[in-house]
Amino acid sequence: METVLSGIRSTGNLHLGNYYGALRNFVKMQQENKCFFFIADYHSLTTHPDPKLLHGNVKNVLTEYLAAGIDPEISTIYVQSDVPEVCELYLLLNMHAYMGELAKTSSFKEKARKHPDNINAGLLTYPTLMAADILMHNADKVPVGKDQEQHLEMTRKFARRFNNLYQVEYFKEPVAYNFGNELIKIPGLDGSGKMGKSEGNCIYLNEDPKSIEKKVKRALTDSGPTVPNSPKPDCIENLFTILKVVSTDDVVAHFEEKWNTAEIRYGDLKKQLAEDIIKTIAPIRERILAIQNDDDYLHKVAMQGREKARESASKTLREVREIMGIRSF
Ligand code: TYM
Repeated sequence: METVLSGIRSTGNLHLGNYYGALRNFVKMQQENKCFFFIADYHSLTTHPDPKLLHGNVKNVLTEYLAAGIDPEISTIYVQSDVPEVCELYLLLNMHAYMGELAKTSSFKEKARKHPDNINAGLLTYPTLMAADILMHNADKVPVGKDQEQHLEMTRKFARRFNNLYQVEYFKEPVAYNFGNELIKIPGLDGSGKMGKSEGNCIYLNEDPKSIEKKVKRALTDSGPTVPNSPKPDCIENLFTILKVVSTDDVVAHFEEKWNTAEIRYGDLKKQLAEDIIKTIAPIRERILAIQNDDDYLHKVAMQGREKARESASKTLREVREIMGIRSF
């Protein structure tokens, strides 16, 4: 049985991008693998969140993992900061992570450009912490969206470097759990390339139908095709990308045909898209509402997860310390 690890930062509520990037097909994923799902609260600290809001955001992600269908009796769900072993592994891996390669990562360059007043060391070493998360359970597969591809590549590099340096075959080189397709990128409704919390263009799993309808209605479109079989502009391609994950093949084929014959009416496309997003989210939203205030249940799940995650993490750390020659008297 292979080990799968999925992580989501605790920066707010989960959106469609998180769902399709990291959780799609979770039933199969959980049945066929030993799965860990965790909430990356340390990672969220790079942007200096309000301490009063941090725990609430961790709770949101925990609730939404469960509501999306992660079963705590089959899988391990835990909070990153509940497993302190990750900090030591992060420190040890940092000894073999080079300034140049960290500074070259696209996510670092982008964040540094957007927030020149907060280019902290946590941001620079973000990929090492992510590698520590993954290598701590020696995961074979990591379900991620397209935006995390480079981080995963760095994890493989760190694993390989460790093995070569200490002449061991200890860490596996994890690959993306890609659900049988290319890594996915769910676009924003604003014509931008990516749905993301910091982009402010998300549809959230706990969003109410009225608000979804409003957002979809307002999604950016152009004036429409004038000749048959024209290429789609980005904003329209984006709507089709979302349609392809939430709607049936028949529905997609219908709108593709309308596009190709230049008869498409964006109002119809948006109405269908909103309807199918609402339908996809409805059962998740219902479960979110049912468990979000059940603090006893959430506490129980988090403590159970912490226990199981620490067991796996401390084993890895013991072995890594041994390999690196760290011994206590
Ligand atoms: P985060 O919190 O930004 O996103 C969590 C997961 O959701 C995916 N995702 C998307 N997939 C497709 N389309 C989108 N628009 C979209 N937006 C987000 C992400 O690819 C990711 O899989 N660094 C990670 C958190 C992390 C992690 C890890 C993940 C920390 N340690 C170890 C896996 C393994 C992050 O910021 O994800």
